[in-house]
Amino acid sequence: MTHAPRPLISHPSGALKGQVRVPGDKSISHRALLCSAMNVGKTSISGLLEGEDVLHTADALRQMGVTITESGGYWEVRGVGVGGLSEPSGVLDMGNSGTGARLLMGLVASHPFTSFFAGDASLHKRPMKRVADPLTQMGASILARSNLRLPLALTGRDDLLPIAYTLPVASAQVKSAILLAGLNTAGDTTVIEPERTRDHTEIMLRHFGAKISGEAVKEGWKVTLKGRPDFAHKTLELKVPADPSSAAFAIVAALITEQSELRVTDVCVNPLRIGLFTTLKEMGASLTFENEREECGEKVADILVRASALKGIRVPAERAPSMIDEYPILAVAAAFAKGETVMEGLAELRVKESDRFNAILAGLSVNGVQAKAEGDTLIVTGGKVKGGGKVATHMDHRIAMSFLVMGMAAQEPVRVDDGGMIRTSFPDFMGLMNSLGATIEDVEDLHYFALPPRATKAPPLMIA
Ligand code: S3P
Repeated sequence: MTHAPRPLISHPSGALKGQVRVPGDKSISHRALLCSAMNVGKTSISGLLEGEDVLHTADALRQMGVTITESGGYWEVRGVGVGGLSEPSGVLDMGNSGTGARLLMGLVASHPFTSFFAGDASLHKRPMKRVADPLTQMGASILARSNLRLPLALTGRDDLLPIAYTLPVASAQVKSAILLAGLNTAGDTTVIEPERTRDHTEIMLRHFGAKISGEAVKEGWKVTLKGRPDFAHKTLELKVPADPSSAAFAIVAALITEQSELRVTDVCVNPLRIGLFTTLKEMGASLTFENEREECGEKVADILVRASALKGIRVPAERAPSMIDEYPILAVAAAFAKGETVMEGLAELRVKESDRFNAILAGLSVNGVQAKAEGDTLIVTGGKVKGGGKVATHMDHRIAMSFLVMGMAAQEPVRVDDGGMIRTSFPDFMGLMNSLGATIEDVEDLHYFALPPRATKAPPLMIA
């Protein structure tokens, strides 16, 4: 589906004050739906992200026989049991979501039918060979164009082979696709990751009763799932914590706007997700985790943040998996920091919802920030930010939100060409940021596109 672009503008703003909860974690929300679909009983989910990406996953599961309802923010899933999905009659439209597409490809691979996957223009550009390789090794067949992108057809089978697979790239999506395929596969399915990536799938599968273990090995981290668990919970309750990747926008906004003090509550602080917070602290951020607790196996905390003078640092490549979605907003923080911030190991940024590596460079440059690339390293020289630029977002929600945050502390407003995609992960971003003190608004088409210069003098008054 195509949507008309929605240009937005963010004006310099005063201090941000208050307490907020950002929407549910996107990664955990996808997994909550996918695992609940495998439960024969009823699963109730609170805090689910009601963003477009997750709604696409819910619709796809509905097409395969899962009953999913929502009432007043509470979601109820009546699943079909492990291996119980039925053949979808239509195309599975995954919208903008790489996570939805890749995880669901894994789940349907162990079902003996054909599914057709499609999405929007951004998703159709994203590499799928990384999931196609292990899934075909297990026994699924995939029909796609030569570049192995969506749209594609996947034919699964219910006698897949359990494999031991070493990930060539650090990707939680690929790991999760293999584990979800392993769910309805006899025997042990093993994934070895050279660097640890977010482990929400492992935590969720364990919560549902699967036998899944993780251990350090010389090649990295090895995860082993015992196939065909019995997910037969009459009722199960899941709580989705707030998304640290969404909290990041409010947190950086508070850091760079003077006198701000903000508490962001119920944030998922899984150690494999908090690379940005570690980095910001190293840059001099006043950031405190309060009320740390555990919910459904995930670590959760409230985060108190105060405006801070930031300084540039080196962010090592090994940290990338724990903050892979946060580089656009880190680049904005770096633009306001004193000195150079060097971000290493960013190759994966080129295959996200957009080529984020280049989108960040271009967005910084149109706003007067000095930035350069050296291979997969991004170097930003911070200081005062002029702003005043119009940023091309390339259908990428995080590029849009990051540069709108930049506008809050720059000398001149910052515009983005399309904030429409923000609905995929943070539907009320504008309302929430404005409630804290930001001024982000729609740009009227008339103002946005260059107008012919106005006559400076009023025409002479004609008196008959
Ligand atoms: C995700 C994993 C990451 C991340 C994405 C969500 C997940 O992608 O960028 O937004 O939920 O597993 P990769 O697996 O491609 O690193």
